[in-house]
Amino acid sequence: MSRIRPAAVMILAAGAGTRMKSATPKVLHSIAGRSLVGHALSAAAELDPERIVVVVRHEREQVAEHITQIAPHALLADQDEIPGTGRAVYCGLSALDTTAIAAQVAAGAVGDTSVLETQVEGAIVVTSGDVPLVDAELLGALLDSHADAGAAVTVLTARVEDPTGYGRIVRDAGTDEVVEIVEHKDASDDVREIDEINSGIYIFDAAALRGAVAQLDQDNAQGEMYLPDVIAIARREGGRAHAFVAPDAGAVEGVNDRVQLAQLGRALNDRIVERWMREGVTVVDPATTWIDADVELAPDVTILPGTQLHGATQIASGATVGPDTTLTDVQVGAGATVTRTHGSASVIDEDATVGPFSYLRPGTHLGASGKIGAFVETKNASIGDHSKVPHLSYVGDASIGRYTNIGAATIFVNFDGVTKHRSTIGDHVRVGSDNSLIAPITIGDGAYTGAGAVIRRDVPPGALGRNSSPQQVVEGWVLERRPGTPSASAAHEALRSNDDGLSEGARAERAAATETEGES
Ligand code: UD1
Ligand code: CA
Repeated sequence: MSRIRPAAVMILAAGAGTRMKSATPKVLHSIAGRSLVGHALSAAAELDPERIVVVVRHEREQVAEHITQIAPHALLADQDEIPGTGRAVYCGLSALDTTAIAAQVAAGAVGDTSVLETQVEGAIVVTSGDVPLVDAELLGALLDSHADAGAAVTVLTARVEDPTGYGRIVRDAGTDEVVEIVEHKDASDDVREIDEINSGIYIFDAAALRGAVAQLDQDNAQGEMYLPDVIAIARREGGRAHAFVAPDAGAVEGVNDRVQLAQLGRALNDRIVERWMREGVTVVDPATTWIDADVELAPDVTILPGTQLHGATQIASGATVGPDTTLTDVQVGAGATVTRTHGSASVIDEDATVGPFSYLRPGTHLGASGKIGAFVETKNASIGDHSKVPHLSYVGDASIGRYTNIGAATIFVNFDGVTKHRSTIGDHVRVGSDNSLIAPITIGDGAYTGAGAVIRRDVPPGALGRNSSPQQVVEGWVLERRPGTPSASAAHEALRSNDDGLSEGARAERAAATETEGES
């Protein structure tokens, strides 16, 4: 990281972003689980500046609300109706100075002559809300380069194949020093040949910037106050302009439309996936693996193809996730396995197994060595250590103890049509297959329930809850009621050859059941 602590980082986010064709302001679109302005804010925070200021105007309320949410310490500066990046910086700097003076006043330290001294001094980083690949490392290198050059302004530049649309860096033919930046629309054919472009990211000495932005005019092709004009002005005033060429031109690209949004999203993902691989994570197929910026992975995690890890997901060492799994804000414990699963806001403890085809909704907590199996949906449910819900179940609003088994196709009936209710199941319980557990219900430690039971009353510890009625067998029903069907002919065949596939015992039982039927 840089050895310079900037006085401020200023993020420009007042532009309209019309090419997105969106009701959502451009800087609020996201890649890697963060808004574009969120990426700028997090790079800014890593530089540990004294202040962060975001300049806003277009869709002001939406943008401001988002920034207040994700970066409550950032200042907001409103750009007035004068257009252009130069005006944006003027407004941002005024807000910084006002705040600095207010802070001095609040500290009781202000006298008549001290106002000038309390204005912001030192290095000011200016960046955009739409350049999500610019990270703190690059900004730090820019700061160091600025300090080494003793410059009044340092601009981050890049050499690109197609410079169309960008401001061009005009250098002195003899000294190679930066002389000025000319916008594409204002450029002559000669200048348009230059392939070194302005990234729109700069370091300014605060005093030089303050002096220069006050002198900007709108005398250009777009009728805007251009921030790049500060370079020529600063030089005129005796300051030095310096350029730092980005080692990777792709890293300074901005988002203007949704094509670039996807391209930069892909590029950022590649960067994140590569970083984790270097940290010891096995990623079998980087091309189909998507990892958000805030996800944390431990060494020896294995990610199988088609996996998306979102939000604040954390995966501990030795766990295997995927294939075809999407986790948002999920914690996965060491050694756990999560296969073909969709999960959010859940916790999976160590050595547990989930999937395939499981749906973990918010509030699921699966204990160590527990299991949530195929076609199981869970919500607001804690399933204790070593407990299993292996097949075809819904577990909603429940607490299940340890070493308990929930039989296949069991439904926790948590909703009475108006209110949700909770169920509490103890340790070492055996819930039979195909149960409906009507909440609120408590099943005590070591209790059993029979297959197919509808459990409406609490089952005390060690008891058996069952309520299925005796099975009826109505002999000849199909031959009589469904004549002419394939079932009827199959039955007819079997009965004719006296080969109904039943054992002697089963025949005797059938005879008994038929008698019972006759009695009722
Ligand atoms: C700007 C530069 C250009 C550079 C390019 C890099 C100027 C005049 N030109 O052009 O040299 O090559 O960036 O991408 O600066 N903004 C405001 N207020 C405004 C206008 C813009 O805050 O009145 C913000 C935008 O939200 C955006 C940033 O400033 O974050 C850049 O604005 P944009 O309109 O994209 O500038 P470009 O025309 O791309
Ligand atoms: Ca731009």
